[in-house]
Amino acid sequence: MHKNKEKFEMDYSSFKTEISKRRRSATTRELTKIAYSAPKNVISLAEGMPNEETFPFAEISIKLNDGSSFTLDERELGAALQYIPTQGYPPLLQSLREFQRRAHAPPLWESRDIVIVSGSQDGLSKTLEAIIGPGDPLLVHDPFYPGVEVVVSPHKAELIAIPQDEHGVDPEILRETLMKRQLSGKKMPKIMYINATGLNPTGIVIPLERRKEIYRIACEYNFLILDDDPYHFMHFDEVILYRLMKLWGYDGMMSHFMRIRHFYKQRRDAIAALAEKHLSGLADFTLPKGGFFLWIKVRGIKDTWKMMMQRGVTKGVIMAPGAAFMKDSGKPCNAIRASFAKVSYEEMDLAMERLADLIRSELRNNYFINGNSYID
Ligand SMILES: Cc1ncc(COP(=O)(O)O)c(C=O)c1O
Repeated sequence: MHKNKEKFEMDYSSFKTEISKRRRSATTRELTKIAYSAPKNVISLAEGMPNEETFPFAEISIKLNDGSSFTLDERELGAALQYIPTQGYPPLLQSLREFQRRAHAPPLWESRDIVIVSGSQDGLSKTLEAIIGPGDPLLVHDPFYPGVEVVVSPHKAELIAIPQDEHGVDPEILRETLMKRQLSGKKMPKIMYINATGLNPTGIVIPLERRKEIYRIACEYNFLILDDDPYHFMHFDEVILYRLMKLWGYDGMMSHFMRIRHFYKQRRDAIAALAEKHLSGLADFTLPKGGFFLWIKVRGIKDTWKMMMQRGVTKGVIMAPGAAFMKDSGKPCNAIRASFAKVSYEEMDLAMERLADLIRSELRNNYFINGNSYID
């Protein structure tokens, strides 16, 4: 007897803004989707697509670092330059569905789906624009990636910032904040932004148990979790990425990700050692568990904004001032975010040395009264 398959069924409409609820897909875009999946003998005069014969490129060859290569022929290049269904390039979608199934095994995956976006920021913007309307509250962890704030601030959204300890968002405080909010009859948040792996800027990876607890709270208080996870996958042209996935297969992709992880782990260890060498006694940091950044807290300096944005450049070092990642970026913050992704080890060494000099000169030049009040 045929057994009914359980399906993922979730009605998102109650979370959407009024504007988002009124959105309809364009018929022309629907037709592109239909034309793409129609049998070869179907002739489509439906879409306003340019003719591929007018495209100037004949082929593109891609050489990989491991010595292998592949070529995109005219037909594939046509697809790369042509309109494709809004959801993404269909062969890549298929590869990604399979990849997600094997890599993350989401429950009821067969009845869920993927949409390809132009990077993490694009995904964030689209999701938040669909959920956050004028004055709507949004849960975030503090500090957090500032690309979120720039999307929601034009809507005058209310950021509810949940403090973190060394394992990320504190679930106790999250629950308590929501409980108090509910009791006071305030508007409840429909969504929480989380950057659970390699948090930008602190490099925290939220442990599994804590993730589960946050999920339980989300179910209890009925809000969505938007997990911004840009450090697992890379952004390439869709056709090229598809060909790469085909060439490497699942195991090849995974071993590439493992190589990348090892590469950045070595850099993380190097910057931590250099920070220890130069900043000892001047600043504190915890070892990041993921991502590209070292979150440095400077001792005896209340705010690093002008130190980094103005005086740092003249001393030959640029790092991001911590306040840029806080809920209220106008408030003083003694942290600095240093990226260890790109610079050479020599440059890292020099940058840490210059930062140490900069901190010493800030302290020497008495930009502070009583060690904490900023007068510059
Ligand atoms: C947490 C986080 N989200 C989103 C982005 C933006 O990613 P993308 O360049 O893929 O748009 C970044 C980039 O630094 C990030 O750190």
